[in-house]
Amino acid sequence: MSERLLEVKDLSIEIATRRGPATIVDGIDLHVDKGETLGIVGESGCGKSLTMLSLVRLLPNKIRVSNGTAAFAGRDLLQLSSRELREVRGGKIGFVFQDPMTSLNPVMKIGEQLIEPLLYHREMSKAEARKRAGELLRLVGIPGAEQRLDSYPHELSGGMRQRVMIAIGLACEPELLIADEPTTALDVTIQAQIVDLVKDLRKRLGMSVVWITHDLALIAGLADRICVLYAGTVVEDAPVEQLFAEPAHPYTRGLLASIPRMDGEDAERLNSIGGTPPEPGRRPAGCPFAPRCPMAQEICRTTVPELQPLRGETTPHRVACHVANRVLEAA
Ligand SMILES: Nc1ncnc2c1ncn2[C@@H]1O[C@H](COP(=O)(O)OP(=O)(O)OP(=O)(O)O)[C@@H](O)[C@H]1O
Ligand SMILES: [Mg+2]
Repeated sequence: MSERLLEVKDLSIEIATRRGPATIVDGIDLHVDKGETLGIVGESGCGKSLTMLSLVRLLPNKIRVSNGTAAFAGRDLLQLSSRELREVRGGKIGFVFQDPMTSLNPVMKIGEQLIEPLLYHREMSKAEARKRAGELLRLVGIPGAEQRLDSYPHELSGGMRQRVMIAIGLACEPELLIADEPTTALDVTIQAQIVDLVKDLRKRLGMSVVWITHDLALIAGLADRICVLYAGTVVEDAPVEQLFAEPAHPYTRGLLASIPRMDGEDAERLNSIGGTPPEPGRRPAGCPFAPRCPMAQEICRTTVPELQPLRGETTPHRVACHVANRVLEAA
């Protein structure tokens, strides 16, 4: 029996607008077991980053959690005191932010930014922490790692900064690493190196990982399970092989169909899902995907589908779609 590390239940996030609060994330349920890697996919704006930022309580201004719980090792992250939160953040939970430029401190040398969490969370001397910081930069493939400790973020390329962010996220050997599009600015060799590093830490430390990405090919080789998000809801959640073999949500099908093929033949299908997701505050009454869905029926426009095991079986493959069975038959 696997051990739950993180269990998010019915999480909703809203933004304050002039017309009142508008829902951005609408009742998300997700979980991560100890040692498990969860991939989170879904198009831009579907709430991937905000969902994860809410867990470490770093939501931007005017955006707040309006409902839900997030149990981490049995304690609700959303209820921790600021002191408890500091213990968790950067310690038990490592976070790699999507945008290295805004999350690295521009006036602090990167060595200091790596050493700080080590001094805070680990009982290390300054000299030990500096040595460890150098090792971490080497681990993420930064050439001349020791010398780089004295560089400022602006002195590094985008790819280098992204690697520094990954090093900071991994610094304290967290129980859970949350990585938000951590390798988008990296070329494929470095990408593969980072993926191997994360796999190694996972094996060595039993670390759990939440990896947000647009790159379905990359996540196929890394994740144990994938959650597909659409307009702030989980529409499908399945072990990685099952999701690729038998995608049951029309949106997931669209996403998978838009992976470009090596021969370029299907390149024009990149935008195979027509239309755009609903704006916050303008969610349709039924399934949020219904207006774009080629298979939508009457019920889809009136009733929000619940995330349920596929075919009513006891299976870890869950989908929120009224017509999932028809989707599978049509395949
Ligand atoms: N600081 C902010 N102020 C106002 N709206 C925001 C802010 N941050 C996010 N949003 C809105 O919240 C929604 C979800 O944003 P989020 O950043 O979580 O999306 P995402 O899935 O991470 O997208 P991407 O793949 O582009 O990173 C979007 O509609 C976005 O416009
Ligand atoms: Mg994001």
